[in-house]
Amino acid sequence: MARELIGDMARSIAAASLPVLKRAAGVVTRRLPIPQPLLLVGAGSAARLGEAIAGFAHRRLLLVTDASIVRLGLAEPLVDALRAARVGHVVFDAVLPDAPIPVIEDGVALFRAENCDGIVAFGGGSVIDTAKVIGLAAANRKPARELAGYFRGLRGPGPIYAVPTTAGTGSEVTVAAVISDPDGAKKYTVADTRIVPEMAALDPLVTAALPPDITAATGMDALTHAVEAYIGGWATSYTDRVARAAVATIWQQLPRAWRDGSDLEAREKMALASTWAGLAFTRANVGNVHALAHQLGGRYHVPHGLANAILLPGVLRFSLPQAAPRLAQLARHVGLEGADDRALAARFVDALAELAEGIGIARTVAALREKDIASLALAACDEADRNYPVPRQMTPADAAALLREVLPGPGRGAGARIPGAGAKRGAER
Ligand SMILES: [Fe+2]
Repeated sequence: MARELIGDMARSIAAASLPVLKRAAGVVTRRLPIPQPLLLVGAGSAARLGEAIAGFAHRRLLLVTDASIVRLGLAEPLVDALRAARVGHVVFDAVLPDAPIPVIEDGVALFRAENCDGIVAFGGGSVIDTAKVIGLAAANRKPARELAGYFRGLRGPGPIYAVPTTAGTGSEVTVAAVISDPDGAKKYTVADTRIVPEMAALDPLVTAALPPDITAATGMDALTHAVEAYIGGWATSYTDRVARAAVATIWQQLPRAWRDGSDLEAREKMALASTWAGLAFTRANVGNVHALAHQLGGRYHVPHGLANAILLPGVLRFSLPQAAPRLAQLARHVGLEGADDRALAARFVDALAELAEGIGIARTVAALREKDIASLALAACDEADRNYPVPRQMTPADAAALLREVLPGPGRGAGARIPGAGAKRGAER
């Protein structure tokens, strides 16, 4: 323990290249007590979560979900457990991708009208984020928009329980919720340690329903969380441990889960890895990949995980001058070999690009337009500068160059198209 503390302090000093404010924020993040949900893991754990919740004598629960999950009947085993125990619940299935604020306000109205005293979030990142903010807004009688920022509510929400239906966002363990304006163009982060769910079920029977493209994109989102947390300036011995576990697991299991969605062992391991990655980045934060991906999501509605997956290799190559020793550690952890840190780190990035290609991730973003690149680059730099402890800071010219690498063009293969309505299943952040 003492050795870990000394190691973390040494790392604080090593992160001296970060601006003072960001360094200070890193110190706070290292010490902030962040609750962790009790996890139920394994096939049938969603139903077992329902049984457990039934024991908590709730008056009435708001089940927050989306229409496709209702259509697929994924929440039925949990709902059956609530019914069997005569626990009242009301279903709110209007959640949309990007957690739009008007939908959250509708959820708050229903929560109040039905006199609810707890929330079950059953869905992807947007569903869980919507549920977190419904809970916080209802407890504080404040519009959701006013909760954007850090600890903007006086009171914490009532109990929140979560069943993630994708293995990617890690929202079941994070202190944040990302919500958006109705058109999804502007996003806001609500951060509060009290919105971490009390219990969560990681049930492979639920994620087995994911189609391959969403399995790939959400899995790469989790991988991006782990890698960015690992190479950033706020990493600690704890976040390193969970990030390494996430990277190694995703490396092995994502191709399996993508090839055969019904492989419950791979699905369960991916769900765990996504949760490890969430535990890593909720403390150590993310970086330039997310800063750029958020702009592509806002401007063109590129699904979050897909944008990360396409950008990740290029951004890591850009980060090599500063991040090579840390990326080399990850390379060794997944069993790669190389002559020195630099060679190992480069090998890791190449292998990661191969992994992405092997699960059908495109190399370019079809919707991206040259005329938009300058403004997207500026916005990405602004986001990264204000929030992320990145190993190498991007200038607007750097960010523009990274975006140009994923611009569709001759010889670059087909760009990633935005999937149709089916992609809404899983509602990524
Ligand atoms: Fe993400």
